[in-house]
Amino acid sequence: MNTLPKGFTIWFTGLSGAGKSTLADYLYAELHDRRNLPVEIWDGDVVRTHLSKGLGFSKEDRDTNILRIGFVCAKLSKYGVINIAAAISPYRDIRDQARAMVGADQFVEVFVDVSLETAIERDVKGLYLKALNGEIKNFTGVSDPYEPPLRPEVVVNTRDESVAESAAKIIAYCEQAGLLPTA
Ligand code: ADX
Repeated sequence: MNTLPKGFTIWFTGLSGAGKSTLADYLYAELHDRRNLPVEIWDGDVVRTHLSKGLGFSKEDRDTNILRIGFVCAKLSKYGVINIAAAISPYRDIRDQARAMVGADQFVEVFVDVSLETAIERDVKGLYLKALNGEIKNFTGVSDPYEPPLRPEVVVNTRDESVAESAAKIIAYCEQAGLLPTA
């Protein structure tokens, strides 16, 4: 396994269905499997089955979920691990708290910018239909807020870019910022 002088965190934020998990998996394959670097993924859907089991989708519960992910990212970043967080993380103030926990220089916020219309069209999990019918309350983008980042390090648009193109933008940023050695 190769090692990094410092770990860091790639923090995806965006609507459900924006493509956060797909990008996280792609980056994992690139950084862990191909470059032999230590990488961990913190995917909202998975975290909610373990670390955040029992939490719902009120602001308070979402904030708790995000702060838990921020906490583990901060701990592991210290030991050279690349953390990839992939949760909606809809609230700006809590994302900023996660940034402060990890350390601003080791935090790469990636806005997965997809319109609500595109997310609804995809509706991979069938949840938007339910949310629009009122069967799911407080659904992000439909009946709950999403606050886009004001100054994300990287913006990707998974409607217009391929997964490989979006991932290349993120890796290029990390290399330029001195977080990743150039391949
Ligand atoms: S976060 O707001 O706390 O960051 P997280 O990313 O962990 O959310 O979980 C979001 C996932 O939970 C969605 O992709 C979707 O599959 C599911 N989900 C269930 N209910 C909701 C809801 N009310 N709002 C958003 N996502 C929901």
